Amino acid sequence: MAPNLRKLTRAPKFIYKLLDSHVFRSQARTTTWMLLGGCLHLLLSTLLTPRLSAFLFLILLGGRLLKNHLIATKHLRNPELDAAIPHRFAASFQDRDASGAVIGASRNVTVLILGAKSSHPLGVFAPGVKELGAFMGEMMRDLNTRSAELGYLGGTNFTGAPNSGDENAQVGIIGYFKDMESLHAFAHSEVHRKGWGWWNKNGKQYPHLGIYHEAYDVPAHSWEAIYIQMAPTGLSACTVPGKEGVSMDMVTDARKWGRTSAQRMGRTDSAAVKTDMLYSE
Ligand SMILES: *[C@@H]1O[C@H](CO)[C@@H](O)[C@H](O)[C@H]1NC(C)=O
Ligand SMILES: *[C@@H]1O[C@H](CO)[C@@H](O)[C@H](O)[C@H]1NC(C)=O
Repeated sequence: MAPNLRKLTRAPKFIYKLLDSHVFRSQARTTTWMLLGGCLHLLLSTLLTPRLSAFLFLILLGGRLLKNHLIATKHLRNPELDAAIPHRFAASFQDRDASGAVIGASRNVTVLILGAKSSHPLGVFAPGVKELGAFMGEMMRDLNTRSAELGYLGGTNFTGAPNSGDENAQVGIIGYFKDMESLHAFAHSEVHRKGWGWWNKNGKQYPHLGIYHEAYDVPAHSWEAIYIQMAPTGLSACTVPGKEGVSMDMVTDARKWGRTSAQRMGRTDSAAVKTDMLYSE
């Protein structure tokens, strides 16, 4: 949201953070937001004058349209592209062979998909969501602050689209661990056990809340990833713990190396190279 609107109304920062949060935005249908906008206009028309209210609405809407137009026509910087890497890159553990070339998928990786959904008309404002969210937040903080110790490489949040007929979407994280032992150790760590204990005690009381996880223990040379004109995301947004606490990121230039799926997987046998089709040229 435009910061000048915040200054204009002098509302606390957290209100704008909340209004702009993706999860909050998806709590109501587009038409419901529009109806609320109509009501706001009615209210402002009586508090101010209909003309002044219309003027405020048009100025704000016009300002946003103008900004988007200037970005689209390249007269303004597109902040959404700030983190994007303008070429093809892959994710790798940065291990190299004797010739200095990157070895594709040189290590095992354990993938964790963790999701939660509130199937309640109140969405994220339903009973139990706050507590569940607090535990999730605490777990994420623990993972992010003790990542090297926990063997946690990183993760990316996601918001799913609602299933057809549903109002509410699921939210979750796709996280990466260096191995299954690390994931198990985390599952038995204090923070996770606290959350788990709360769920065991209270989960039944909130039948509208659903949680799940999936875990994949993927051996070396059985995964690959390619990104083109993206900001680092998923595995490429992870870091490789290095010597003496120095971490490297997993982003690996794939303009020359890693143009084929087989190379990114580190598979050099001829059968792998022959059947290779993904994104190769
Ligand atoms: C994902 O969401 C959690 C909880 O809101 C937050 O703590 C974490 O920083 C987010 N992670 C990323 C990669 O944005
Ligand atoms: C990688 O996974 C394989 C099984 O898929 C296992 O035999 C091997 O010990 C693992 N390597 C490491 C370094 O954990």
